Formats: sequence, structure tokens, C-alpha cells
Amino acid sequence: MRTWPLLVLSIAACRPGASPPASRDAAPADADAGAAELAALDGAGLYGKLCAVCHGADATGYKADNAPSLVNRTFLESATDEQLRRSIGEGRPGTSMAAYSTARGGPLSPEAIGKIATWLRGHGPAPIALPARSAGDAARGEPLYVTHCQRCHGTAKARGDAVHLANPRFLDAASDPFLGWAIAKGRPGTAMAAWEGTLTEAQIDDVVAYVRAFGGPPAEPLLPAPTGKEPIVINPRGRAPSFEPRSTPCPPSRADAGKPACTPDGRFVSVDQVRQALEQKRRLVIIDARPPSDWMRVHIPGAVSIPYHDLSRLAEVPNDGTWVIAYCACPHHLSGDVVDALRKRGVRHAAILDEGILEWHRRGYPVVTAPGVEPPPKESRGLSMPGSPR
Ligand code: HEC
Ligand code: HEC
Repeated sequence: MRTWPLLVLSIAACRPGASPPASRDAAPADADAGAAELAALDGAGLYGKLCAVCHGADATGYKADNAPSLVNRTFLESATDEQLRRSIGEGRPGTSMAAYSTARGGPLSPEAIGKIATWLRGHGPAPIALPARSAGDAARGEPLYVTHCQRCHGTAKARGDAVHLANPRFLDAASDPFLGWAIAKGRPGTAMAAWEGTLTEAQIDDVVAYVRAFGGPPAEPLLPAPTGKEPIVINPRGRAPSFEPRSTPCPPSRADAGKPACTPDGRFVSVDQVRQALEQKRRLVIIDARPPSDWMRVHIPGAVSIPYHDLSRLAEVPNDGTWVIAYCACPHHLSGDVVDALRKRGVRHAAILDEGILEWHRRGYPVVTAPGVEPPPKESRGLSMPGSPR
């Protein structure tokens, strides 16, 4: 049996206040679009609207949630077109990377995914013929992985700061030569070093075998897609919840500069307050701001799917003082878009679920899930990624 060494873990990624105020600027200028608008966009437009919020406008990554670079030279030269399309279409369940294909309940047709993949391709070299790998030995790979890789990439059960190599959708999409190339050549300009020279070719094969052995369960079946007819308000006859929202921290004050103090924006309500409101059958609206594919895996009971890329159902949200809580995976980026759009419409009692749905699920709070969906892995936190706003 494989033994997992103890890691010092902390659930820090979604902690309140982890998201700096500036990250709200990451919201696309106009998130208020439906399927028709998406269909009219080219690859760059689709990317800007759906992906830039996490992967950055130039796709070099680390705008939010430690989303990796999608245009690194060694990534583009080793990832196949099929791998790119699958990564976008299937997502990485349990992380903030949603499944974007219509087949998985996301917003993008195969053509649209192809357009984004082609746009990404335009940023770097075409795929090269990768050297074949020899069969490695997972048992010999384990101590190498633990010593050299785990602090960034985490364990089978815990995601680190870097791409979670144990994610079954990652392992489905990535070939052994792709893994070996990433390890040998690294990702220039990021925290991922080139390991050739430090590790022998045989040791790289052993690490590849160990990573491959993370295996993972097959794809889960999904809940039926949202119909767009789900009721908006939970407990319509209930009393209003008594939320005490947290505000975005003010920037360090410079009293002598005569600047006005910042106004509290009451933007964040904690998972504990929202759980209590549900238990007490309070009247409220909960919006799942992620692509519907994520709602189809797991959502808070009564949460209505209004994804950040199609806000048409926002028109149905009552503007009568009813509290509206929006959530996304972690931390606040997609839900922040929705709250901004609500406030623009004059809905003042709109706030973000502070720690997000992953933390809600991790804590064992009530959820509706597709069969077999487990709470997401813990997040371990070792280092700050390059360009990370933290
Ligand atoms: C809410 C944040 C978020 C959004 C929005 C998002 N991604 Fe991601 N994406 C991530 C994260 C985080 C990962 C790494 C997941 C992990 O831990 O394995 C990722 C991984 C990926 C990967 C795999 C990269 C690799 O190195 O294996 C691809 C490709 C990708 N995203 C493309 C896209 C595209 C295209 C879009 C828009 C249609 C998009 N992403 C939208 C957060 C996001
Ligand atoms: C200091 C942190 C760090 C260490 C240590 C590290 N990596 Fe990475 N690794 C990263 C980051 C960050 C990326 C993504 C870089 C990017 O944005 O392109 C990455 C990318 C990768 C990828 C490519 C994933 C993809 O889909 O693009 C593989 C495979 C990988 N690392 C394996 C390893 C292995 C095996 C080791 C140990 C020998 C290791 N890494 C050590 C940080 C690290």
C-alpha cells in the first residue's frame, strides 16, 4: 500500500480577504450576454469574455486562482489540439476550471472551443514530435515526487498551488510524453523549473509513472441541466435573513493626503451566515455564477444557475430588498461579476458568498450533487506563484 507523507495543509486559498480588492477589475466589461452573443464571437472574443478573468488577458496565467499559463512555449509545443480541446471542454472538476463544452453542460459548442484553441495556438509554436518515454517504476518515482514536486503540485487528495496532476481529467488528456516533456523542459518564466540535469531520464520516467498512478475515478454522471425555469426565490414566505456582510478592506489610509475614507461596500457574506439562513428557512436568492456544467455536478439546494456568461435570468431577480447571494468556485471572480451586474440594476442587497462553493462543500454543508461527487480536495499552500496578486 502506498503511504502518504503528512503535509502541513492549510485551507488558505478561499480564506476571507484572500482576494485583493483590485481583483474586481478582472471582471469583463460586459458580462451580460447570452448564447447568441457567444456564437457571434471569434476565438479572441470568446477568450476575453470567458477565460481572461482567471488566465489573464494575454493568457499567461495567474490572474486568479493560480490558473496556469496557456501560452507557455513548452506547453504549446507539447500539448496536442485534442488535449487543448478536452481540457477546455471537460474542465478540471473540483477546481475552479469548469467544463465549458455544451456536451458537459457548459456554454461552448465544439466549434467555439476549436476557435479558442486556435487562438491560443497562435501564441506559440506548433506541436513538435515528442520523445517517447520508457516505462518507469512508480515506487521509485514516489520519493522523487515527494521531495521535488509535492510542495507545488500537492498530493492525490490535495491540490497545491500549481496544476493538480492527480485530477482525473488532467490525466485523461495528458500523455506520458507530454508529462515527461513538461518535467524535463519546465515552463520557462514560471515557477516550474526544467528538471533535466537534476533528474536522469530514468528518474523522469519513474516520476511520470508515479503521477500516472494517481489514476482517479471515471467521470461522474451529471445532474440534469438547468431548465431556466427553476424558481428564483428560496422560501418565498420566509422572513429576511439578518446578514452582516463584510466589506472589501480599505486601502491603507493616508489621512494627511486629505483622501476621503473608503465607503464600506458590504460585499461578502460568510458560508456560516448563509447556511444558517437556509436552516432557518429565510427568504433569499442564491445564484450559482459558474457555467451550468458546474451546477450540474454540485450546487447549494435552491441555488439558481445564472452563469457569468449569460445573465439573462437576472431580470427575474426581485428588487424588493430580498437578499441575493452569488457564489462561484473560489474565490470571488465570477460571483463578483454577477454582484456588480445586480448592483448596476439597483439591487442593493446583493453579496458574494465569501468562501465560495468549494469551501461550502468541503465543510459538509448541504448540497445537491450528481451521484458520486465527493467534496473537493483540500488546498495546500506552499508558495506564491509568479505574477500572483497575493
Ligand atoms: C474561474 C477561473 C477559470 C476560468 C474562468 C477558466 N479557467 Fe482554465 N483553468 C483554471 C485553473 C485553476 C486551472 C488549473 C486547474 C488545476 O488545478 O488542475 C485551469 C486549467 C486550464 C487548462 C489546462 C492547462 C494545463 O496546463 O493543463 C486549460 C487549457 C484551460 N484552463 C483553458 C481555459 C479556457 C479556454 C477558459 C475559457 C473558456 C478557461 N480556462 C476558463 C481556472 C479557470
Ligand atoms: C516551485 C513549484 C513547482 C515545483 C517544485 C514543480 N512544479 Fe511542476 N509546475 C509548476 C507550475 C507553476 C506549473 C504551471 C506553469 C505554467 O503556468 O505554465 C507546473 C507545470 C507542471 C506540469 C505541466 C502541467 C500542464 O498541464 O501544463 C507538469 C507535468 C509538472 N509541472 C510536473 C512537475 C513535477 C513532476 C515536478 C517535480 C519533479 C514539478 N512539477 C515540480 C510548479 C512547480
